[in-house]
Amino acid sequence: MENRLEALRIEIDKLIYEKQPEKIRFFIEHLYSVARYCSLLALKRNLNQEIAMTSGMLHDIANVNGDCGNVNHPLKGTEQSEVLLKTMGLYTDEEIKIITTAILKHGDKQAIHEPYDEVLKDADVLSHCFYNPDFPISEWEIGRYTNILIELGSLGSIPMEFKTHPFGTLVDYIWADIISFHNGKWIFSKHKKRTTWETQGGHIEKGETPLEAAKRELTEEAGAVDFDIEPLCDYWASGLINGVEVTGQGQVFFANVRTLAEIPSHSEMEKISLFDSPPSNLTYPHYSHDIFPLALKKLNGLANK
Ligand SMILES: [Fe+2]
Ligand SMILES: [Fe+2]
Repeated sequence: MENRLEALRIEIDKLIYEKQPEKIRFFIEHLYSVARYCSLLALKRNLNQEIAMTSGMLHDIANVNGDCGNVNHPLKGTEQSEVLLKTMGLYTDEEIKIITTAILKHGDKQAIHEPYDEVLKDADVLSHCFYNPDFPISEWEIGRYTNILIELGSLGSIPMEFKTHPFGTLVDYIWADIISFHNGKWIFSKHKKRTTWETQGGHIEKGETPLEAAKRELTEEAGAVDFDIEPLCDYWASGLINGVEVTGQGQVFFANVRTLAEIPSHSEMEKISLFDSPPSNLTYPHYSHDIFPLALKKLNGLANK
């Protein structure tokens, strides 16, 4: 039997070279990278890799043909793929239905559809997000991107368990963290080696109290020079933190920062940014559950004083 993926590759290459001579690299890179991510995700989800890859290779075919606007390309692509697949004469009607439905739905990344539709959407997102780690991830892809990384076990930090406790009720703290604000906005830092945002904090050094460590981290990681700092809560965490399996206790502080300066050059952080609310691409997403609401309560309390 003819290898259908290779037969399809010939058709797609031909189309790209004919219709998009100026954008050969772009289309080859995008269509085939989406196809490979489709293959990976299909394998993970017990689906047929070949069918998923076929939807990946064809998903932006309407853009290759160049005869429609971006909004219409899933619908146009559905029709064009159906024609191509039927002409090739290698696919059953049922297979064509699965492939073209995935192409039709791939623009609707907010909704959840059938398994093959989801594989294609997720593969498209992975292709965009992995294109260049220095490029920002668009807001509408962050949620889906984070979920895929969790599914694939590719996030550096996934605590299996995490629980907050009242401040000062645990012992042997190893971490001190700070939820910090400046002029009513959340301060998040970006680590030099990560693309996600995080609150300031880190290991308590030998001889330091948790409060001393928190003050030091706040200056090192946010450039805070003048601030009020007070207790927020304790937590217990167990799981994978930055790729390392750990279990331990930490103390969290709330800081209202009056003056910010440059982050020290020896800092692990590259920059900070001020947010109206926490961003969705967090290094430690588990903080959003209990700790952020506690901090928000404190902030609102300050504002009402
Ligand atoms: Fe698309
Ligand atoms: Fe795409």
